[in-house]
Amino acid sequence: MKELKILLILVVIVLVGYWGIEPYAHSVMHGEVKHPDYEYKDIPKNIPTTGDPAKGKELFTANCASCHGVKKDGINPGMDANAAIASFKVVPPDLSNIGAIVDEHFLAYFIKNPQDATKNPKFAMPPMAQLSDEDVGNIVAYLKSIEKKDLDGKEITIEACGRCHSIKYQKIEAVTPKDALKDYLGKVPPDLSVMGKAKEIEYLESFINNPQNGLPGTSMPRLGLTKEATEKVVTYLDKIADPHRDQRNALGVWVLGYLVVMAGLTFAWKKKIWKNLH
Ligand code: HEC
Ligand code: HEC
Repeated sequence: MKELKILLILVVIVLVGYWGIEPYAHSVMHGEVKHPDYEYKDIPKNIPTTGDPAKGKELFTANCASCHGVKKDGINPGMDANAAIASFKVVPPDLSNIGAIVDEHFLAYFIKNPQDATKNPKFAMPPMAQLSDEDVGNIVAYLKSIEKKDLDGKEITIEACGRCHSIKYQKIEAVTPKDALKDYLGKVPPDLSVMGKAKEIEYLESFINNPQNGLPGTSMPRLGLTKEATEKVVTYLDKIADPHRDQRNALGVWVLGYLVVMAGLTFAWKKKIWKNLH
């Protein structure tokens, strides 16, 4: 029975090594990640987020459409990408689905205080100080009235990140050219093709929720994504970074099963030989 004991000890060592040491090493290497704050506790909640969508559309056309389009509702931006890059060094995003992506209180506060909301003092959109709180409520109501409810991770990533980040392996090119972004943000935003592999899920959620959590002082703006939108983006980034993971994991189970069966057979065979010798 000595062999069986040795086998058991080996199995225990392997399991302790895998489930004990690996997560431990991880926590040492990656440190603590700040919890995402999806309520955006620092954002004042006094600006209304409801109102009259029809009035909101008029206000949008008068105050926002010079820079932003709403493709879904047939609103084209007043300036083309080149003009926008010349003025802002970044192309303002289309806002067709922003109501489904961004927290409504964040959005309301953002419209009047973009630099503060994004925690980027150089954020290129000027504060819309001319709007009353009621106006903002109407605009938010309008943007929520046209939103698509069941966006997938890819759609959200393109809308929320696509003006700055490329995802080369998915053939997605950042809307704004690299040199303009470098000029604007101090560096070229990294390609997101394998970001899901390079960073932990917890880190990505925390970073997207508030980039200052991961890189204090960074120029990537806080975008105000909802919990659902953030999780969909991270799931998408994770999936595209390693498209064959599910396949590989499924294979792993078979390999383990094979090893167990082989160990059993070897053991039985050895016992048989020794029985004859005794
Ligand atoms: C003078 C041009 C200009 C006007 C007018 C303007 N914006 Fe923007 N907006 C921008 C630019 C530029 C950005 C992108 C900046 C960046 O990504 O760093 C932006 C970004 C945004 C975003 C994205 C924020 C996020 O979290 O991703 C929203 C939402 C937005 N604007 C809403 C509005 C609304 C609503 C109005 C009208 C009340 C408006 N903007 C008016 C230039 C403008
Ligand atoms: C206005 C441009 C802009 C937008 C929009 C933007 N980013 Fe970034 N992002 C940056 C910049 C600039 C950096 C580099 C930051 C640094 O190194 O300080 C960055 C860095 C990152 C990193 C690397 C973090 C690290 O620890 O190295 C990740 C991940 C990331 N962005 C994800 C996203 C996702 C996901 C979105 C959309 C939900 C997004 N970004 C939207 C500009 C942007």
